[in-house]
Amino acid sequence: MGLLGEGINEIIATTRNNAAPIGIIVKDGSPKMVLFHGTHTLENIRSEGWVVANIIHDPVIYVKTAFGDLPEDYFCNETAGDMAVKRLKHSSAWIVFKTEIERDSGEAAIVRLVPVAEEIIDNRIYPVNRGFNSIIEATVHGTRYVMTRDPQLKQLIDHHASLVRKCGGSREKEALELLFEYITE
Ligand SMILES: Cc1cc2nc3c(=O)[nH]c(=O)nc-3n(C[C@H](O)[C@H](O)[C@H](O)COP(=O)(O)O)c2cc1C
Repeated sequence: MGLLGEGINEIIATTRNNAAPIGIIVKDGSPKMVLFHGTHTLENIRSEGWVVANIIHDPVIYVKTAFGDLPEDYFCNETAGDMAVKRLKHSSAWIVFKTEIERDSGEAAIVRLVPVAEEIIDNRIYPVNRGFNSIIEATVHGTRYVMTRDPQLKQLIDHHASLVRKCGGSREKEALELLFEYITE
């Protein structure tokens, strides 16, 4: 399965000059994305037929790309076979996929991913950090909370925020501050 593991891999997907955290589901060896209608990621995949999975360990990037856009200088050009694509300049590793829309329902599309090329750039080891993991959790809840304002989601965000304060490093704490800026009305 190359760089991805079984289960759901939380990567930063780049399509054109757009970046967003997206889960790649790996089950029985075949990678897929489930993309909600209205995301730029799905729109770009429909028109371009490719996506790059960026593996990156910066919590700030997860928050920034979930709620906003990255400046153009965060991206660089990459080629994979005859394809010219965009990826994040500072990714630890990347995988270029060709995309095929497998199914489209009222709410979301299931996208089959065919790997074309991949590269590991940074071999550094990242010990498990509950603060980093909690940023991912709080950001997932945050993307739903801004749409629903469901108080139960806010409780979950606050729970993860306390773990970030206890276990995270300075970059996780910076990501948390940014997250609260995005979700506060
Ligand atoms: C860790 C994480 C995983 C996510 N996974 C998905 C996903 O698999 N599919 C999806 O449609 N949105 C997912 N989201 C939400 C999108 O990142 C969010 O809607 C984003 O604003 C889409 O950006 P875009 O419009 O630039 O594509 C995820 C968010 C986070 C924080």
